[in-house]
Amino acid sequence: MQFIVTPSPLQDARVTVPGDKSVSHRSLMLGSIAEGRTEVSGFLAGEDCLATLAAMRALGVEIEQPGPTQMTIDGVGIHGLREASGDLDLGNSGTAMRLMAGLLAGQDFPSTLTGDDSLTGRPMSRIIRPLTMMGAAIESDCDGTPPLQIAGGLALKGIHYDMPVASAQVKSSVLLAGLYASGTTSVTEPAVTRDHTERMLESMGVVVGRAKGSVSVGGGQKLRGCQVDVPADLSSAAFILLAVVLADKADVLITNVGVNPTRTGVIDILQAMGADIRLENPQMLGEEPVADIRVRSSQLKGGEVDPELVSLAIDEFPVLFVAAAAASGKTVFSGIGELRVKESDRIAAMADGMRRLGIEVDESQDGAVVHGGRFKGGTVESFGDHRIAMSLALAGTIADSDVIVEDVAAVDTSFPGFAASMAAIGVNIRVEGD
Ligand code: S3P
Repeated sequence: MQFIVTPSPLQDARVTVPGDKSVSHRSLMLGSIAEGRTEVSGFLAGEDCLATLAAMRALGVEIEQPGPTQMTIDGVGIHGLREASGDLDLGNSGTAMRLMAGLLAGQDFPSTLTGDDSLTGRPMSRIIRPLTMMGAAIESDCDGTPPLQIAGGLALKGIHYDMPVASAQVKSSVLLAGLYASGTTSVTEPAVTRDHTERMLESMGVVVGRAKGSVSVGGGQKLRGCQVDVPADLSSAAFILLAVVLADKADVLITNVGVNPTRTGVIDILQAMGADIRLENPQMLGEEPVADIRVRSSQLKGGEVDPELVSLAIDEFPVLFVAAAAASGKTVFSGIGELRVKESDRIAAMADGMRRLGIEVDESQDGAVVHGGRFKGGTVESFGDHRIAMSLALAGTIADSDVIVEDVAAVDTSFPGFAASMAAIGVNIRVEGD
């Protein structure tokens, strides 16, 4: 399947985007081990979260889907999960694999976690190490990649873990295992990462200790089922945001978007580059802050992207590379080495695509310099990575001629309906092939 994007003017609009991927995963996992019912609205029915849904069902949890974006989870309590009859296939989802590993490490039964070609190449030592320190037994391939075989049946003990990489997935994995451990489990992070796990645990009645740079949970706490209203995903809204910024003249309102301060780096970085982006109507949706985001077309200028913002915008760098290509001067990204171990090597994938479209990019192991220029038309690869596919499609909105993005099926992992959402703001995008 491919996208064919023909440059065209955009139009003023009011749009929304699907629910937040991180919050949707967590609603299923935490709702499953809660006592009582958890009702979820605004759920992201993308392939990643559907993999988590299938895994929780395979572990014996009854979950109904009364509407396309609704889930009703009959929680089984902290010790109510049951051994799955086969491997748990988590598809393309790093979040599902790393959080599930934490959840399953303290069960009294074994589990095997596997995934697609991309996921089975991603590093899992980052969770195996702390979970092993807690007393879990987890086997992986010799290079620390999935499948993961989790022994189960072992008593876990609380640890203090000083995380070497800033990762919400690792932090969450350790905290979930901490619910099953004796004593207190705490994690210190080298930079602030998304805190959806902490917020949802709190809304389910768990006492979470929070100090600057660290978070802790005591083992043995019960979770109480609750209502979870999932905000629209800022990581998906980012594609609309940038399309509008880059257009000649458009004014778009994206409604009800999650603006948790651990996620809003993309807004700060684009604003620093000159983008006209404002938050309107801020309010709380349960434990998560949301707002409508108003964005208008603007001229962007390059510069140095503040490395302090990297963990707050970790999934938005492919979009920001496109912003940098359209900005005047050069844009310097540093401290982004984690991008090399996402669904693809995102520094290499974006450099490859943008070079094919006539943009100069210098790469280093943990950074890149993007030289502002003009996109020409051409054919580019997604490397099977949803965010690369969508980011390169954006380039097509302002290129000299059509941009064809190949192998875009993975877009459904995080943003089903991406082409229709882009069309709603006037992007001329066709989806071809199967
Ligand atoms: C996520 C955390 C991030 C992010 C991923 C979702 C999460 O990964 O890239 O898409 O839901 O916890 P890291 O925390 O490993 O950087």
